[in-house]
Amino acid sequence: VETTVRVELGERSYDVAVVRGGGPERVAALVRGLAPSGVVVVTDATVARLHGEAMLAAIRAAGRLPAQVVVVPGESSKSVGGVERVWRGLLAAGLDRQGLVVAHGGGVVGDLAGFAAATWLRGVRVVHAPTTLLSMVDSAVGGKTGIDLDGKNLVGAFHQPSGVVADLAWLETLDPGELRAGLGEVWKTAILAGGEPFERLERGGRDDLLPVVLDCVRHKAAVVTRDERDEGERASLNLGHTLGHALEVMLGLRHGEAVALGIAFVVRLAVGIGRLDATVAERILSVGRGLDLPLALPRRVGLGELRPLLRRDKKALAGEVRWILPTGLGSWTQAPVPEPAIEAALTDIAPG
Ligand SMILES: NC(=O)c1ccc[n+]([C@@H]2O[C@H](COP(=O)([O-])OP(=O)(O)OC[C@H]3O[C@@H](n4cnc5c(N)ncnc54)[C@H](O)[C@@H]3O)[C@@H](O)[C@H]2O)c1
Ligand SMILES: [Zn+2]
Repeated sequence: VETTVRVELGERSYDVAVVRGGGPERVAALVRGLAPSGVVVVTDATVARLHGEAMLAAIRAAGRLPAQVVVVPGESSKSVGGVERVWRGLLAAGLDRQGLVVAHGGGVVGDLAGFAAATWLRGVRVVHAPTTLLSMVDSAVGGKTGIDLDGKNLVGAFHQPSGVVADLAWLETLDPGELRAGLGEVWKTAILAGGEPFERLERGGRDDLLPVVLDCVRHKAAVVTRDERDEGERASLNLGHTLGHALEVMLGLRHGEAVALGIAFVVRLAVGIGRLDATVAERILSVGRGLDLPLALPRRVGLGELRPLLRRDKKALAGEVRWILPTGLGSWTQAPVPEPAIEAALTDIAPG
């Protein structure tokens, strides 16, 4: 199996390696090749406890003395306070412009450390070592970095990594709920990619994660190559995210679970306005059920309480929400949708 995917971006191209075990050594080899003046590993307390020593030891064995910055686990670290903590860690380590940041953790650590690297001395290199399924299939690839400020991801920068190493062995310590949430992004990607990635899940192929992660990384890499700065096609990766983000805030759901609900919703929405064939919709929903994703709301949610949250969506142009809608396997469109159709689709995903 080919386990490396190249993200083609001219002089900013890089490889994403997906491996089963030996992740720290792969990162260390990458570090050696990049020959930085210094290395700072940014991680969170949970990942540091479980996998931090192996990472530091491998980098040391490669002849570098890494510093380590440990942040509090969870979204609250994607904040001005969190990024200040990382910047101060880089300062204390004396990281200069030839230095390297290694982001070892989930999407929070990746977005935070990536943003700190993008801004430190106007930009130093970063290597992503994602440790959650979500970060492996989504956030570690593509160079979006940032922090929250009231709204999610309101402050950020595009900053492509110099390399990515995803070791599936790291997932063995992940909470099953977090793994399932990551499957929400896997489902999203399979719908957008269509073809073999979708059929692999349809065949029940989720248990062997290596090809599944590779499918997702390949699709994301292709989209990012064609639209690095999110001016067109990259918007498709927000499938399920408009409602998903609102539900995440409103109901306190995990990102990936909220996205799954958001996908179930836009599938109904697309059928409702005649853009998606009902048979294809059923195939899509049945793959979601096969991944044990939540496809019904925990409680009834009305458009009235959603409206202010939807308007806050970064992608809402001048207050008009433009929904990403699946129009088939591997195809999508973006369009505003009349409110009665939204009401109807909300009823479709209401609890029992
Ligand atoms: N930049 C992008 O393109 C992009 C794309 C999608 C999502 N995101 C962002 O990603 C973030 C969510 O990422 P996430 O779901 O990985 O959350 P996370 O980083 O908070 O990780 C979830 C939890 O799992 C723990 N954890 C991580 N790896 C572990 C491991 N191997 N074993 C045990 N515990 C582990 C963490 O400590 C944390 O408590 C959000 O902030 C979202 O905005 C960014
Ligand atoms: Zn997402």
